[in-house]
Amino acid sequence: MLENLTAQPADKILALMADYKADPRHDKVDLGVGVYKDASGNTPVMRAVKEAERRILADQSTKAYTGLAGDPAFGAAMRDLVLGDTVPAERVAAVATPGGTGAIRQALELIRMAAPGATVWLSNPTWPNHPSIIKYLGMKMAEYTYFDSVTRDVDFDGMLADLRKVAPGDVVLLHGCCHNPTGANLTYDQMSQVIGIMQEKQAIPFIDIAYQGFGDGLHEDAKITRQIARAFDNCLIAASCSKNFGIYRERTGVLMAVAKDADQKALTQQNLAFLNRQNYSFPPDHGARVVTTILNDPNLRADWEAELEETRNGMLTLRQQLADELKRLTNSDRFDFIAHHRGMFSRLGATAQQVETMRDKHGIYMVGDSRINVAGLNAETVPVLAKAIVASGV
Ligand code: LMR
Repeated sequence: MLENLTAQPADKILALMADYKADPRHDKVDLGVGVYKDASGNTPVMRAVKEAERRILADQSTKAYTGLAGDPAFGAAMRDLVLGDTVPAERVAAVATPGGTGAIRQALELIRMAAPGATVWLSNPTWPNHPSIIKYLGMKMAEYTYFDSVTRDVDFDGMLADLRKVAPGDVVLLHGCCHNPTGANLTYDQMSQVIGIMQEKQAIPFIDIAYQGFGDGLHEDAKITRQIARAFDNCLIAASCSKNFGIYRERTGVLMAVAKDADQKALTQQNLAFLNRQNYSFPPDHGARVVTTILNDPNLRADWEAELEETRNGMLTLRQQLADELKRLTNSDRFDFIAHHRGMFSRLGATAQQVETMRDKHGIYMVGDSRINVAGLNAETVPVLAKAIVASGV
């Protein structure tokens, strides 16, 4: 049987991680996978996470199953974090999932059950795992223009023109904040126009929000998701806790489905629990319990928010330092976009050849589309990267 298997395409981001590991150079710089690193290159366990884990270890009296949707307190805490009071709780179905990817996968399966003929529209570019999972599930997909490789900003006219081609019932996947891989984001007003077109076309929004708190702040980063959720009867939201709680390996995420009313919510909740049961039965609990403990304790929450702010401000500083250094070296403002982008990533707009040169000659690892993980930098490596960018002719 197993001889019938054929090799699967490698995930580009994960393949890059392996290449970086295998490189013996001591001065190599890892700007690949989206994992936060502090100035010493560590991915720390956040203070509030440590304390929540200590409390759980001391107080937890059972490891019995929770429920197919996970602990309802986690769903409620995440609904509050992402949606605030935008949509009444009786309209929001929620299930815990293994990470944000688990939430995306469950959302797509839900779409396939509810609207088998729908096309899922993705930004061009998007996180490579989006099209990969859609293809694997045998669903239809299409792309809408998103990035202008000259201005390195959103190609808004192109985006609107493509969204006008969406058919009724199609699903449009939008990044809630901190667009991955480009770092270029829509303004609130631009999103209002996108919403107008989507309403006119009777499209269904599906939001992937994996970096809340990494862009302009916890509340600011939720604004667009809330704006969309408010404007539609139905909306799917896949949220990840990997980055903003720094609990990557705990696989903690949530899928929320905003329903038209309480009856539709109950039906959706039942379907989401069914999907969890089919795919992995009960979702992982530890990370979800850590998140719930933090969000529901005012002191822990304040400490988590403070540390998240330090993280966010650190990335903004690195963005500014890199933009300034490139301004100094090129005597131009053509790299100012790096300071304007938000989140963990920026797409530099380098060619595949230039990306390769930076890797081979300068030991700098970025994804082939020239996405850099800003958090992979520090005060010492910023000038190294800036020099390599200029030397490679970007
Ligand atoms: C990334 O885009 O680098 C992250 O979301 C990590 C991943 O799983 O690809």
